[in-house]
Amino acid sequence: MSDDDPAAATALSLLTLGDYERAAATVLDPAALGYFAGGAADELSLHDNVLAWRRLAIRPRVLVGVGRRDPEVTVLGRARPHPLIVAPMAYQGLAHAEAEIGTARASAATGSIMCVPTFATVAHAAIAADAPAGTRWLQLYVFPDRGITRELIAEAVELGFEALVVTADLPVVGVRDRETRTEATVQSSTAELVRDESAAAPTPADLAGNVDPDLRWSDIEAFATEFPLPVIVKGVLTPEDALLAAEHGARGIVVSNHGGRQLDTALSAVDALDGVLDSVGDRLDVLVDGGVRRGTDVLKALALGARAVLVGRPVLWGLAVGGAAGAQRVLEILLDEFDRALALTGCPRAADLNRSFVTAAPWLAGRS
Ligand SMILES: Cc1cc2nc3c(=O)[nH]c(=O)nc-3n(C[C@H](O)[C@H](O)[C@H](O)COP(=O)(O)O)c2cc1C
Repeated sequence: MSDDDPAAATALSLLTLGDYERAAATVLDPAALGYFAGGAADELSLHDNVLAWRRLAIRPRVLVGVGRRDPEVTVLGRARPHPLIVAPMAYQGLAHAEAEIGTARASAATGSIMCVPTFATVAHAAIAADAPAGTRWLQLYVFPDRGITRELIAEAVELGFEALVVTADLPVVGVRDRETRTEATVQSSTAELVRDESAAAPTPADLAGNVDPDLRWSDIEAFATEFPLPVIVKGVLTPEDALLAAEHGARGIVVSNHGGRQLDTALSAVDALDGVLDSVGDRLDVLVDGGVRRGTDVLKALALGARAVLVGRPVLWGLAVGGAAGAQRVLEILLDEFDRALALTGCPRAADLNRSFVTAAPWLAGRS
C-alpha cells in the first residue's frame, strides 16, 4: 500500500465490527446516531447484550481435522449457507442514501436473510426489485386497523418474502431517553398508511405509537392460519411465551430484548436461551439476537441451541460508512470470524455445534 492510497488505508483500519461502529459515529449526524445507537432508559440491557456473550467461554477440541468447514444451517426447514440474518431495523435511510436497498444488496451478496422492516425508508416492492436474488422476511408491526396489516402481508406474499416476523415486544415504545434528546425525524412509505401525512415530519416514536398495544396470541394464530407464510414471533424472553408461540402456530421465535431498546434491565437473550430451549426443544426454530459482534458470539449462539443469529446495529454501521459495500464487508468480517471460530473450536460443521462447546466463563467465577 502506498501512503497516498486512502481506500486501502481505510480498508486496513476497518478490521472489526467495532471499527465500523467507531467509524460510523464519525460520519452519522447526531440525530441518526442517537436513534441507531441508543437503548432504553439507563441502557443496562443494551450494554449487557454485548457482555452476555463474554460470560461464556468456549471449550475447544483439537486434532479433529478441520480442513473442510461447513457453516450451513437449517432454518424453517430450508438449508441456509450460514446462520447470519440481518435484523429488521427501521429507517435505514438515516444511515445512508442507499437505505434498505444497500442492505438488501449486501444481504443477497453474502447469502444472508434480510428482515425487511415495516417502517423501511424505501418501499418494500423497491427493495425486492433491486436485489431479486435475496431471501427476505417481512418484519411486521401490527396496527389496530388489521386491514393495513393484511395489505402489508399480502404484498409480502406477492413479492416472494418467505416468512413473517411479528414483533411482540413493542406494544408501546420503550423509554428512549437518548433518542428523545437527539430527535430524529423520519420517512417511510408505510407511514402514509398509518398517519396523516400533512402533519409535521414524524419521529420514530410517533410512528411506533401506531402499533396495536392489544396484540395477542390469537392474532399470531390468525396470521399463521390465514397466510401461506411461516410466522416467527420476535421478542420472546421466557419459556412460558416460547411454549405459547408453539401452541399458537408459530414456526419460530426470536429470543430478543429488541437490542436493549424496549424494557431496560430485561434479561439478555443469551441468558434466556437455555430456559426457552428446555421448554420448546425442537417444536419450533429458536433464533437469537442482541449484541452479536464477533464470530465467536455466533458460534456460542449455535452451541447453546439457536438455529441462526440476527445481526442488527453492525449492519447499519457498515451501511453508514460505505453503503451496500460497507454493509457487505461487515457481514463478510463476521462470516470470516465464524469460519475461523469453527476451525479453532474443533467443530468444522456448524450443524454439529452443541452445549459441550461452551461453559460459564471461569474468569467470572466468584463475582456476584
Ligand atoms: C435502529 C434500530 C431500529 C430497529 N427497528 C426495529 C424494527 O423496526 N422492528 C423490530 O422488530 N426490531 C427493530 N430493531 C431491533 C432489531 O431487530 C434487533 O432486535 C436488535 O437490533 C439486535 O441487537 P443488536 O443491534 O445489538 O444486534 C431495531 C434496532 C435498531 C438498532
